[in-house]
Amino acid sequence: MDKDGIALPGTPERDLLELVLPDELPQHVAIIMDGNGRWAQARNLPRVEGHRAGIRAVRASVETAARLGIPTVTLYAFSTENWKRPALEVKALWGLAKNFIDAELDTFKRNNLRFRTIGDISRLDTSVQRYLKRAMTATAECTGTLVQIALNYSGRNEITRMIRNAVNRAADGDLQPESITEQWIDDHLDTAGTPDPDLLIRTSGEFRLSNFLLWQVAYSEIYISQVLWPDFDAAEFLKATLSYQKRERRFGGLSSEPAATAAPSGESSV
Ligand code: IPE
Ligand code: IPE
Ligand code: MG
Repeated sequence: MDKDGIALPGTPERDLLELVLPDELPQHVAIIMDGNGRWAQARNLPRVEGHRAGIRAVRASVETAARLGIPTVTLYAFSTENWKRPALEVKALWGLAKNFIDAELDTFKRNNLRFRTIGDISRLDTSVQRYLKRAMTATAECTGTLVQIALNYSGRNEITRMIRNAVNRAADGDLQPESITEQWIDDHLDTAGTPDPDLLIRTSGEFRLSNFLLWQVAYSEIYISQVLWPDFDAAEFLKATLSYQKRERRFGGLSSEPAATAAPSGESSV
């Protein structure tokens, strides 16, 4: 039994799938894919092999989300802080990201999956930017699950760019202070157009956000898995979904509160 009381270790994926309530799916699942290095270390392999093995897990989570009909999945693949790692590891990570996109693009199109990146891709090599844009254009018409990959991403960087954008518009006379609402901010972050994550998963047992989606996770349900990312398979994704479906979300209210209770006024009065 795990910490959420689900007595399911080792239960086959099919049985887990049957337990998922189709009407109560998270609309957006965000994942901090962590533990590749430790996975490799445990096998006496170079860290890069952990990242390579992590690609399998990306596929498993994307496939499972699409199979369940979850509209948005966001995967944290490379943070603005990950540039601090040894050059060889950084190079390998970008190489793997490119290979993944090249290899998966047809599958994405065939399965109606839309690809988009979040993060500051304007700072990347122009050749990298070109293939990322190509993948986004190629799947722009797909209406199934949106797969957002966070590349050169951090929440603080995203918020900083959004503020810079707002100040530039204000300086041009195109934005008034009262126009800046929570909705305006939502609409001008990289994640514009997607709902906030209902479920935030972090693998490898770490209890931190590491600068991921800082604005958007305000009310996300958090699921920490002890499993290292390369071992996070379809069954693990389903366990996280089932754990989410047991949560009681209150958004600051009371569970017994009648649904009709309205907020006194809009956010602008705050
Ligand atoms: C996550 O695995 C992948 C990235 C951050 C790119 P790590 O490489 O952080 O693995 P650990 O945390 O060192 O085990
Ligand atoms: C978070 O993992 C970033 C990604 C998964 C891309 P890290 O391994 O970089 O985070 P810390 O350093 O343990 O906080
Ligand atoms: Mg890590």
